[in-house]
Amino acid sequence: MQPLLRGRSLCTIADLSLDEIVYLHQKTATLKGAMASPSHPDSRPVFDQFRIGDPDFGLYEVFLEDSTRTHESFKQAARWHHIRVDDQPVTASSLNKDESYQDNFNTLTGYDTSMFVVRSKLEGLCRWLAIAGKEYAEFHGVTPPIFINAGDGKHEHPTQELLDEFTFLERLGWDRSHIHLALVGDLLQGRTVHSKVDGLRIFTEVEVDLVAPEELQLPASYVARMRANGFAVNVFPSIQEYLAQERIAPLMYLTRFQAERSDDALKEIKRRLLAAISLQPQMYDRLVGRTTLFHPLPRVKTNTELPQTFDRTPLNGYEAQSRNGRYARIALIAALAGMIGHDFEGEPWQAPAYDYGFITEGNAGGRPKHIPEGMQPIRNGIVIDNIARGQAPEDIDDHVTRVKQVMGYNKRPQYGGTGESKKEPGIHKGLLFLSGHPPLTPDDSEIHRLAAIIPGAHVNVIENERVQRKIILGAPPRIYNIDEVCCENPACVSSPAHGEPIPALHREFRRREAPDGRATYDCQFCDTPHTPHELWGRR
Ligand code: NCD
Repeated sequence: MQPLLRGRSLCTIADLSLDEIVYLHQKTATLKGAMASPSHPDSRPVFDQFRIGDPDFGLYEVFLEDSTRTHESFKQAARWHHIRVDDQPVTASSLNKDESYQDNFNTLTGYDTSMFVVRSKLEGLCRWLAIAGKEYAEFHGVTPPIFINAGDGKHEHPTQELLDEFTFLERLGWDRSHIHLALVGDLLQGRTVHSKVDGLRIFTEVEVDLVAPEELQLPASYVARMRANGFAVNVFPSIQEYLAQERIAPLMYLTRFQAERSDDALKEIKRRLLAAISLQPQMYDRLVGRTTLFHPLPRVKTNTELPQTFDRTPLNGYEAQSRNGRYARIALIAALAGMIGHDFEGEPWQAPAYDYGFITEGNAGGRPKHIPEGMQPIRNGIVIDNIARGQAPEDIDDHVTRVKQVMGYNKRPQYGGTGESKKEPGIHKGLLFLSGHPPLTPDDSEIHRLAAIIPGAHVNVIENERVQRKIILGAPPRIYNIDEVCCENPACVSSPAHGEPIPALHREFRRREAPDGRATYDCQFCDTPHTPHELWGRR
């Protein structure tokens, strides 16, 4: 069998199937056991199985944000593997000369780099680099490089998630039936917490206590995703209120206030926020025997959220957690390089399958109905009907204008407007007449583009004044390749603010059904959800 993870990139934790994550944890345990007694006769075969041992295998660390643990543990992991490890000194890089990330990384790929470990403020950077790196590699006939996200802004930190879960599993005696975990601190901006939304699904039953004041609470979209994943979610406004109640989670995950990402409004109320998320030395008696503390680290040294007085006590789970980082990363590198993975049994990761049943056909025949006053029926062409049905007339006008612009219809004979439904007075909808437009079929890409702009509309193909075909546009499972559509998150690599040359083809938004029935379109780079209005609203 082809080694399971060879050549794959890890941009978010959802790039791994749950079975693949569990497999990595099992392998990490095997490796950690062998590394604890390196001279034991059973250890050598384990090392031989994991170790790449190829000085031509190049790993590049590119850290555009500061780091101790992630950077150094990857370096140590690479040294353990006996591979070539390099570091791009970013203070002296051409990125500071306004070079694109694409050009910068393609250059390093050209030096026979097999794997990149990348940390950046830009959310979704690894996803983009993996796409660009593949295109570069195909053009030059080389193997596409592997990208590992070592933290991208507020978005995700999948390798921290691996080592956190591994640490929890050790604590829970490898029982995955249930986890009760408190997440305390800057849940708004802490990417290690965000990776838990999908990562904790390796446990059958998940109970999460979110402990943070409102200003630092987990964004609603992540809470909704946790609930959609079946997690029980409880919210507490402060550590004081949390400790005053009885159901203290046996695992408590603390995070630092992310001062470097905070805006002025947050900085102004920092004292109050810190008071609500920081443990105090006098809380020791309440905590000990009830919980163990974890923290991705670094902790802040003054006014800390995690008092140093806890270090040499049974509450300290965080130092063992930090040590696990190296093991988890050795195992991950071994898996992505194809050293391990032959013995995997389970469900491998699968690319999302899109349902293209969103285009349907209605009853044809008859003449186009509801022609508003002043508009003439057309003999041959297309009539788009039911545009933004039920919305306010000015919003309908916006939709009609947008369709004309995006589809280039304003360059051809057309007229359109807003009409009131005859059957349902007070209900308005938009209409667009395209005289002489060639007939369309449900498979045409033009139909798919129209569905992205005006889901719910009907496309009537008119021949000799009769409706030959009625194509009904549903909401597409993904929206992409539309110049006018960009991610609204200013920290996203694909945001126009950064000027990264990402073609519209790759600016893809994937539909996620929300529990309340309203769907969002999530950016494939940073996962930011967009309502259809947000996707189109700016222009
Ligand atoms: C975290 C990070 O960078 O996201 N640290 C880490 O990788 N160990 C947490 C943090 O910076 O607060």
